Formats: sequence, structure tokens, C-alpha cells
Amino acid sequence: MEWYLVPNVEYHGQTFLKRVKVGGKSICLVGYDGEVFALGSKCPHAGGDLSQGWCKDGTVVCPLHRYTFDLRTGKGSAGQNDYVNTYPVEVKGNAVYVGISSFWENIKQIFK
Ligand code: FES
Repeated sequence: MEWYLVPNVEYHGQTFLKRVKVGGKSICLVGYDGEVFALGSKCPHAGGDLSQGWCKDGTVVCPLHRYTFDLRTGKGSAGQNDYVNTYPVEVKGNAVYVGISSFWENIKQIFK
């Protein structure tokens, strides 16, 4: 896994949603309830941009049809049968880093 500094983002405990590009991935970065989360930015339902949505009860809400995804697991709410990828986040000082695994690292995880 490689850690990438998220450019142009400083975290001071604020609530925010922002689409960022790190490690070749388009990520929805979320500051919520004193933590920072990173999820895939594209909603699996019909491609909505999750960073244009909002947070509610530990989920991010897609702005197009209001599907919700858990900020920690990426799992869709009951009945949706879908998910978005999640990525580990570290905050050092005010800088935010996102961990991205390579394709082959992800394949190895499947066969462990
Ligand atoms: S595109 Fe996200 S809920 Fe439909």
C-alpha cells in the first residue's frame, strides 16, 4: 500500500465533502464527526458524485437518488445491495493521507 498526501486539503476538525484525485483514484474525502473518511466518489447506482451529497447518521447520501453508504465500510444501506470502495486515512498534523493498494495487492488479499 502506498500513502498519498491529499493536495490542497487541511483538516481542522471541520465537516466537509470534497472530491480529490490521489493515486490515480477519484475519491470522496469526508470530514465527519471529528474523523476523515475516504470512499470511491462514484455512486454504483447510476454514477452520481458522492462528494456533491451530504452526510447523515454515519453515511454519505448520494445527491441523485439518495442511496446511502456507510462512511467506515462503504456498504450500502439495507436493500441497496451495493457498496463503494473505502480507503484508509491518516491525519498527521493537519495533512491528510490516503492509502491506496495496487491492483496486485488487492488480488493477493482475495486469496489469503
Ligand atoms: S446515482 Fe447515486 S443513488 Fe442513484
